[in-house]
Amino acid sequence: MNLGLKDKKVFISGSTKGIGFETARLFLEEGSTVIINGRTSESVKYAIDKLDNKNVSGIVADFLNDDQIDDLINRIPNDIDIIINNVGIFKGQDFQSETIKDWDDHFKVNLMSGVRLSKHFLPMMLKKNWGRILFISSECSSLVPGDLLSYSVSKASVNVFSSGLAKLTKGSNVTVNTITPGSTLSEGSKIFLQETAKRESKTSREIEQSFFKEVRNTSLIQRFLDVKEVATTIVYFASPLSSGTNGASIRVDGGSMGCIN
Ligand SMILES: NC(=O)c1ccc[n+]([C@@H]2O[C@H](COP(=O)([O-])OP(=O)(O)OC[C@H]3O[C@@H](n4cnc5c(N)ncnc54)[C@H](OP(=O)(O)O)[C@@H]3O)[C@@H](O)[C@H]2O)c1
Repeated sequence: MNLGLKDKKVFISGSTKGIGFETARLFLEEGSTVIINGRTSESVKYAIDKLDNKNVSGIVADFLNDDQIDDLINRIPNDIDIIINNVGIFKGQDFQSETIKDWDDHFKVNLMSGVRLSKHFLPMMLKKNWGRILFISSECSSLVPGDLLSYSVSKASVNVFSSGLAKLTKGSNVTVNTITPGSTLSEGSKIFLQETAKRESKTSREIEQSFFKEVRNTSLIQRFLDVKEVATTIVYFASPLSSGTNGASIRVDGGSMGCIN
């Protein structure tokens, strides 16, 4: 299937690792030109070297730093076709241990990164009458685990913002959608599994099984998603082929959020 992504210009926030990195790799395979992003020149260079493709470049910017965000926005070409709002942070801790700064940081990175990019680039996409804006949310926006409150609430606000933003595209060929992944085996999750396994003298597989039995028992697939399972969905909904989907929330959660009739 030809996704029609050749020569499309793509920006992916937080893409030196995990889902964002895999998404960059797949866009490059489709012939797109991709700008990746991370907080340090070392991590961005490392990811660019690993992608090893003439069509990839990178912008170093921390979404907690206003000046760096302004600089990033100035450096992304105005005719960008596709924006993937992927950057996301989370801290697993109980509500009383979370500081107000933790809440501010979650909203700044998880929600305001996409608000700022959309404010700048949506008018230009509307002017050229083509564009894709995708937000990467999380199953936590609906499951709301008690030890991930600031993360879950920030992701729920991403869903609301995305559906509202889509309304501003009415009558155009620009679409705005949300992709909602379930627990995914990114680098961070792999390290978490390995460390827990070592601490509890178990294998990573045993830790994975008990996580899905005890914590994420609503998951129908009872395993972590691979980053590729999420990235392929992102790339399809960023492609011209997805033109019939707008204002939607697409789940790649292995069924964890429950069945919708
Ligand atoms: N993994 C999961 O289980 C899961 C489940 C549901 C939803 N999601 C969502 O999917 C998205 C990607 O998650 P992931 O697990 O693939 O991420 P990850 O592996 O933890 O990678 C995070 C990426 O974001 C960058 N980053 C972190 N903080 C940043 C900041 N302040 N400014 C700029 N870049 C920053 C990191 O780059 P540097 O280190 O180079 O700075 C890295 O490239 C997130 O929105 C996450 O909430 C993940």
